[in-house]
Amino acid sequence: MKTIGILGGGQLARMLIESSCRYDFTFRVLSKEPMSPAGKLTRFEIIGDWDDEKALEEFSSGCDVITLENEFIDFNAIKFLEEKGNYIAPGSNVVRSIQDKLLQKETLKNTGVPVADFTRIDSVSDIKDFASLHGYPVILKSRTMGYDGKGNLKINSDAEVNNAFKQLSKRGELLAEKYIDFVLELAVQCSRSTNGELIIYPVVETIQKDHICHIVKASRDRFHYLRETVSDLCKTITEKLGYVGTMGIELFLLPNSELLVNELAPRVHNSGHYTIEGCKTSQFENHIRAILGYKLGDVELTVNSAVMINILGETDSTADYKGLDELVKMQNTYCHIYGKQLSKPGRKMGHITVTGENLENVTANAIEARAKLTI
Ligand SMILES: Nc1ncnc2c1ncn2[C@@H]1O[C@H](COP(=O)(O)OP(=O)(O)OP(=O)(O)O)[C@@H](O)[C@H]1O
Ligand SMILES: [Mg+2]
Repeated sequence: MKTIGILGGGQLARMLIESSCRYDFTFRVLSKEPMSPAGKLTRFEIIGDWDDEKALEEFSSGCDVITLENEFIDFNAIKFLEEKGNYIAPGSNVVRSIQDKLLQKETLKNTGVPVADFTRIDSVSDIKDFASLHGYPVILKSRTMGYDGKGNLKINSDAEVNNAFKQLSKRGELLAEKYIDFVLELAVQCSRSTNGELIIYPVVETIQKDHICHIVKASRDRFHYLRETVSDLCKTITEKLGYVGTMGIELFLLPNSELLVNELAPRVHNSGHYTIEGCKTSQFENHIRAILGYKLGDVELTVNSAVMINILGETDSTADYKGLDELVKMQNTYCHIYGKQLSKPGRKMGHITVTGENLENVTANAIEARAKLTI
């Protein structure tokens, strides 16, 4: 039976385990803290940091394949595991070219994938030069370790440049992007197997609140007209990177129906959580199948509409859920609690997916379901 190692013990690792434990695979998890969301689901939770070689060796022992649940893993840790003879998907080179947003944008641009105009930023005058070429607003971004909008600042005029540069420089190196006046934000997941088989999930709409993913809406045929363009994008990107596993791709839809790629995630993605109840095979199961080189599962929607709403922490407190007993009375409503012990404002604590016919009704039901739960 296969043994799968996951670097990281968060909710994505937890859902990877949930998706495939029915096959009786063994999962080993490397987590910084005990009782992580994924660690609660396996006897093999190894505690250690990325730079802890002993922990890395213990974690990897007996693994047929190793994968990751976030892109912030130190490149050297992946390299270390590869050099010890482990198979890691996605591998160190892929992670390196994605975890740095500047390198990622350059890779995409060089491959002919449309992205917003961008440039490397080393000084205040670099930002002003970029703005005089492309106009305000400009988005200043940290090259690495940005997530949930942490590491992004919108700059509206020359007067805001100094402050923004000062603030974000503390986080490390920067890039700037032209601010895109998109019609909608969209996302797609695709999974590519070790043997090159590629499957592409339906395109979904994502709604962010304060730069954090809030709601994801999937609906049959809604973005059918983008299907071919999106398939080409997924094929180009995954082949160029030699990618193996599920990838999340965030997109901007422009007024002329063209698409820009906002960013890639070399892992399963929040915009694909709806696939657990909404599609024939979830993004999580297909990730596991892909890295094992198994045939991938069908990805069609099994319902007309599926809407996912995140359960975000509201205060700094010990996580304590109330209202689950009421929530489970709702039909076609599926609640996932990640098992994090501490709640913080904006922290992803769980999610709810609601399925049904009409997208508007399903969205309203998802919002109603979310309101029943307090943390
Ligand atoms: N060039 C842009 N033009 C307009 N809006 C943008 C641009 N870049 C980012 N945004 C907005 O900011 C949000 C977060 O940006 P981005 O995806 O780059 O950051 P992140 O912190 O890596 O996000 P996450 O981890 O939540 O996906 C986007 O979903 C989008 O709403
Ligand atoms: Mg993003």
